Amino acid sequence: LVLILDFGGQYTQLIARRVRECHVYCEIIPYHTSLGEIKERRPQGLILSGGPASVYEETAPSVPLELFEMGIPVLGICYGMQLMAHLLGGEVKPGIYREYGRTELYLTSPSPLWEGVDSPTPVWMSHGDLVTRVPQGFEVTASTKDVSVAAMEDPYRRLYGVQFHPEVAHTAAGKQIIRNFLFKVCNCQGTWTMSSFIASAIEEIRSQVGEERALAALSGGVDSTVAAVLVHRAIGNRLTCVFVNHGLLRKGEAESVRAAVQALGVPLVYVDASARFLAQLEGVVDPEEKRRRVGHEFIRVFEEEARKLGKVRFLVQGTLYPDVIESGTALSHRIKSHHNVGGLPEEMELELLEPLRYLFKDEVRELGKELGLPEEIVWRQPFPGPGLAVRILGAVTPEKLSLLREADAIVTEEIKKAGLEKELWQYFAILTDTRTVGVMGDRRTYAYTVAVRAVESQDGMTADWARLPYDLLEKIASRIVREVPGVNRVVYDITSKPPATIEWE
Ligand code: XMP
Repeated sequence: LVLILDFGGQYTQLIARRVRECHVYCEIIPYHTSLGEIKERRPQGLILSGGPASVYEETAPSVPLELFEMGIPVLGICYGMQLMAHLLGGEVKPGIYREYGRTELYLTSPSPLWEGVDSPTPVWMSHGDLVTRVPQGFEVTASTKDVSVAAMEDPYRRLYGVQFHPEVAHTAAGKQIIRNFLFKVCNCQGTWTMSSFIASAIEEIRSQVGEERALAALSGGVDSTVAAVLVHRAIGNRLTCVFVNHGLLRKGEAESVRAAVQALGVPLVYVDASARFLAQLEGVVDPEEKRRRVGHEFIRVFEEEARKLGKVRFLVQGTLYPDVIESGTALSHRIKSHHNVGGLPEEMELELLEPLRYLFKDEVRELGKELGLPEEIVWRQPFPGPGLAVRILGAVTPEKLSLLREADAIVTEEIKKAGLEKELWQYFAILTDTRTVGVMGDRRTYAYTVAVRAVESQDGMTADWARLPYDLLEKIASRIVREVPGVNRVVYDITSKPPATIEWE
């Protein structure tokens, strides 16, 4: 275990990603976590993150000096290194100017951190302050043109600091440097894999649930499905999955999720509530109203099913680590209203079981593979809880739903054929409420316009429209017009987010 003390740096999550990529388990904890708590967890190493503060400000986040006297190796990054220098008797001052971006790092002394790293090597800097004098016992191990103390260490106490950011991709040798800290300094083993995770997660779920029962809402998304399958491994048939088909899923989706989950032997209550949802949506045009109605109806159906099951104590949620980190405290246990299934009933008083709360998305995909889930679920794109209701502009009707399903299936198929599905964050069709004039086989048509959306993104917060090859776009457009009656025009959305959003509603 490696603990990352967070000082509010914008790259803290990335540090965690890099450590986990080395198959070393790590967790991010607030910088003010007590020393007792840290000691109790017996970490093999500590990493102090970057942060926006200046160490000489009175309110600057700090740690007790004893942190450096516990005999646990410490790597301070940016603010973390400045804090180390400041607390141990060195000197930190504002730089002449703030420095951002790429620069060359010259390795000036040998260090375990530099094993396998060339000099000079490009690194990423982002800071205002600088260490101007290292504390007693430390030596400078690297410099750049403008920064004389770009790295420092006290090998005897195993304290290391780097002014640059090894966790970002722009630092070419960053991964190697982190790897060196973990393996050469902390003596980590690098044995943390998804299969070892499964074993410990199962133990944990068993001890939390005891002899009680649990309920999972399956949306077909990778997170909820993986969470459910994992819990099933732990407590078997004391878990019941409820899959509410709201009739707003994509072509073949309900069937494939059902089949995959059943193939793994997970008991599944499948509820086809399409008619109820369609009735709720009749004539509704406003996007927020659509969302609200789908969300409410979902809760009603889910509660009805849950009641039939008798006494259940736990509710399984596919919450991921980024949500846990973003919610500020790792202890927060509230159900997010934007949860993929549209918000779950709070008054049911179920305790949450969140077996994925320390995992990142790519780890969940790996876990899914390890648990035997098929590719199509493991690589499923994010899909909004209200489903196709927010991809049909204007009122939702069964005809429009089937039209959109066909068009969307063509987009999916062609993107997959082109081998682009893992590069794109999302790719889908939208049925606009615009009809235009066309000509097909000498006859005038007056039919719907389908929009195609494909974006690249890391987290869905920002997104760039995908520069799909023209040939591919051509193929998609001609197939949709040829194969989907009622559509005579296809347009491609070339706006990024911001200013647009990924979905159209
Ligand atoms: P936008 O359209 O806001 O979408 O750029 C960002 C990401 O969130 C998904 N999305 C939703 N997910 N319920 C959800 O669970 C919703 O109501 C919802 N609306 C958008 C969207 O697909 C994209 O990945």
